[in-house]
Amino acid sequence: MKVVTKVQELPSACAFVPTMGALHAGHASLFTLAKSYSENVVASIFVNPLQFESARDLALYPRTPEVDIEIAEAAGVTHLWLPNFHDIYPEGFTTLSAGPIGDIYEGASRPGHFDGVVTVVRRFFDLLKPKYAIFGEKDFQQLFLIKTIAAGVEIVTAPTFREPDGMAASSRNARLTPEGRVAAAVIFSALNGASSEDQLRQMLATEPLFQLDYADFIDEVDFTHAHGGTQNVRAIVAGWINGVRLIDNMRMELRA
Ligand code: PAF
Repeated sequence: MKVVTKVQELPSACAFVPTMGALHAGHASLFTLAKSYSENVVASIFVNPLQFESARDLALYPRTPEVDIEIAEAAGVTHLWLPNFHDIYPEGFTTLSAGPIGDIYEGASRPGHFDGVVTVVRRFFDLLKPKYAIFGEKDFQQLFLIKTIAAGVEIVTAPTFREPDGMAASSRNARLTPEGRVAAAVIFSALNGASSEDQLRQMLATEPLFQLDYADFIDEVDFTHAHGGTQNVRAIVAGWINGVRLIDNMRMELRA
């Protein structure tokens, strides 16, 4: 695996997996999927300041460079891209807007977050010109918004990588207490067991450590609230345990 900072040293027409580091088994599953699309798998690690709501959150974001290199190499990444801030954001760069869907659900709790995400992802695409880019379904709203700015790049959706108890893999899970980690399984069991929004919220409410932000059924085609005739219903959930924000989602007719 080559580790590079300059985009000129990378193969375009590759399968690309952008990350912010703190890699775990969920990222490894994205790299493995990328390998089935191209022999050149480029992963980036760039902690994007534009998508953090506060300087404190940015400073607290975990950075584990040695482990990241091991995980990327073991999962078949051929090129690890560690861009410099000024290569991504040269003087006078333009910020993109994620539009109105960037302001609801995750965007309502994290103002400006999705503008930062679409800006950096479009910038990566313009610099690298990958053929494919792989994104996990766990960040479903992010995936939805990236598809709106992806012109010229084929977006590949990877299924959510889950722990044995169903919990979606995330670098934030490591910040939960052992008790909080056990409690967090309520999210998967509620998504898996509920057949209405009311039921979903009731099931989540059985776990006293879980503090709900939202639990809604949406139309996954346009992110509007689902109604009786909606064909493609997805349940989306966000909340906190031990002050750690956790999100998950599930297509309703595809539940495990
Ligand atoms: O999902 C992430 O890790 C980030 O939002 C992304 C897509 C790498 C952009 O910084």
